[in-house]
Amino acid sequence: MSTFDFPRRPRRLRQNPAMRELVAETRLHPADFILPMFVADGIDEKKEISSMPGVYQHTTDSLLRAVEEAAEAGIKSVDLFGVPLDADKDAQGSVSWDPEGVLNRNLTRLREEFGDDMLIMADTCLDEFTDHGHCGVLSTDRHGNTIVDNDATLDNYQRMAVAQAEAGAHIVSPSGMMDGQIEAIRAALDEKGFQDVAIMAYSAKYASAFFGPFREAVGSSLQGDRRTYQQDPANVRESLLEVQMDIDEGADFVMVKPAMPYLDVLTKVAEISPVPVAAYQVSGEYAMIQAAGRNGWVDLDAVMMESLMSIKRAGANQILTYFAVDAAKALS
Ligand code: PBG
Repeated sequence: MSTFDFPRRPRRLRQNPAMRELVAETRLHPADFILPMFVADGIDEKKEISSMPGVYQHTTDSLLRAVEEAAEAGIKSVDLFGVPLDADKDAQGSVSWDPEGVLNRNLTRLREEFGDDMLIMADTCLDEFTDHGHCGVLSTDRHGNTIVDNDATLDNYQRMAVAQAEAGAHIVSPSGMMDGQIEAIRAALDEKGFQDVAIMAYSAKYASAFFGPFREAVGSSLQGDRRTYQQDPANVRESLLEVQMDIDEGADFVMVKPAMPYLDVLTKVAEISPVPVAAYQVSGEYAMIQAAGRNGWVDLDAVMMESLMSIKRAGANQILTYFAVDAAKALS
């Protein structure tokens, strides 16, 4: 057997599990994960979302139980989305700032139940609550075209964020991609004395087909698309601009979304951000991994952990993922 005489053998550091652990540059921890959850009006028991196995539209009772389970697994934060009755939707999305609306009512219950043991985050966007399904309110421009009206929408975001803070949210998370939304929300929260409520800004959010299963999850009424406010997948420079603006406007966290198809964006954002950087592994990413896993085409648990590891390695400090509880259990 010939022996070569080269000094560098990278395989030395891969020779057994203990050595690999010792040199691992990235480690996942249950506290990295934020669990997105859905709570719906008009259902008697939790209802599985067909394209997202293991993810449910919850009733208040099943939500409380599921959050308890997440807490036991070591999860420190959940992100709540509300699914109102169609009859409660209107052009303004006004049920989003009604304290008795599905989202605010359940935020209140969660905060009562868990106090500061679980960080309660709220999705701050109108799309689940408008009858047209857009993230903002509609108006007509001077050429007669229907548009999503940026500044009129900001008034509603302010009402919504204040209602969420009153309901007990620790973190509000504007996901509608309106210009100036962070500044508007920060001002409204501060004016009402909610200086302690943090803002996680969906800063770099792309008009992505990977959101497909989410639209089923929230019973979206959207016709058309969101390309006049969410970003074009072709671009990365504008993500850096969006992130910088959100930081200047007072964002406590910035976010990149989706995650795996946008790891290059995530890395660039992580390089420039002085605030924590979150990434959202969205519904379509989850659905694809579940589908391939359930078909026996990939090893579901291994691919789940590798996907989360790659998102963290690319620069995410927090990961919003529907796998949060499964991944936390796998880690312990
Ligand atoms: C908007 C919102 C969306 C998602 C999170 N917040 C949908 C959209 O922008 O169309 C998508 C999340 C996912 O796909 O998992 N409220």
